[in-house]
Amino acid sequence: MSSQAVKGKVALVTGGGTGIGFGAARRLAEEGAIVYITGRRLDVLQEAAAKIGDTVHAVQADVSKNEDMLRVASFIQAEQGKLDIIFSNAGYYKVSRLGEITEEFFDQMYNTNVKGNLFTVQAMLPLMGEGSSIILTSSMTAFIGLPDYTSYAATKGAIIAMAKCWATDLKARKIRVNVISPGLVPTEGYEDVQGLSPEQVKDFSDRIAAAEIPVGRVGTAEDIGNAVVFLGSDASGFINAVNLVVDGGQTQVYAGKL
Ligand SMILES: NC(=O)c1ccc[n+]([C@@H]2O[C@H](COP(=O)([O-])OP(=O)(O)OC[C@H]3O[C@@H](n4cnc5c(N)ncnc54)[C@H](OP(=O)(O)O)[C@@H]3O)[C@@H](O)[C@H]2O)c1
Repeated sequence: MSSQAVKGKVALVTGGGTGIGFGAARRLAEEGAIVYITGRRLDVLQEAAAKIGDTVHAVQADVSKNEDMLRVASFIQAEQGKLDIIFSNAGYYKVSRLGEITEEFFDQMYNTNVKGNLFTVQAMLPLMGEGSSIILTSSMTAFIGLPDYTSYAATKGAIIAMAKCWATDLKARKIRVNVISPGLVPTEGYEDVQGLSPEQVKDFSDRIAAAEIPVGRVGTAEDIGNAVVFLGSDASGFINAVNLVVDGGQTQVYAGKL
């Protein structure tokens, strides 16, 4: 992609300290954007920013707290006076069996994945001008029925619905809103949040890649970052209100045997 794609644009990546968010922040920075990464752990964010370079800035903020996101907006306003790209990526990715879903689990899921996306975008809107791009993060789990995914998949479906409404709401301001739905991308979250061991992640990834993913491998944070750079850039100026599935074809083909 041309190095002019997002050069000089100001981007916010929520959950930018690890995993997909880190990969996206790195790709945006490589392509010349000034990037603000947020998350709850400041040490993780600072380490991530130091790894990428001095055009990446760490700001501690919890997406489920509106006051935190308003503070991030004020900070970016004071430093840059504008925001061109939101990659709203922070998410809580965990499963719970139907019949065992607790209220606490449900609240954390919805507060992070639904409330978090809504209030992130709402807080940043005053900074966004014509030609800005909002990218939300859904998941292939929103449109295939996976066992035990009720809560997570429902939040990811809500994200697609919100994006479509916002593409209409923001039409007059010429702000585009799109969704990226990643497929299987092994990240820190598989171990830290889902509690899998590195061996379990590898076995699972190898098995799914061989059996279900036409390109024959799982995704990387860079794969998703490349899609973020594209949707954040003017090169995607005629792409609006879409759900871009970045999954190596996994959800588009039949993986069973006839
Ligand atoms: N990896 C996959 O296979 C996959 C597939 C489909 C969709 N997704 C989606 O892609 C996104 C990123 O996933 P990932 O695999 O990169 O996850 P990850 O490695 O667990 O990273 C998630 C990031 O979000 C941050 N975060 C979580 N809760 C937050 C909160 N309340 N406020 C602010 N930041 C918060 C975390 O930082 P702190 O803990 O420091 O806050 C962390 O940096 C998620 O929305 C996930 O649902 C992932």
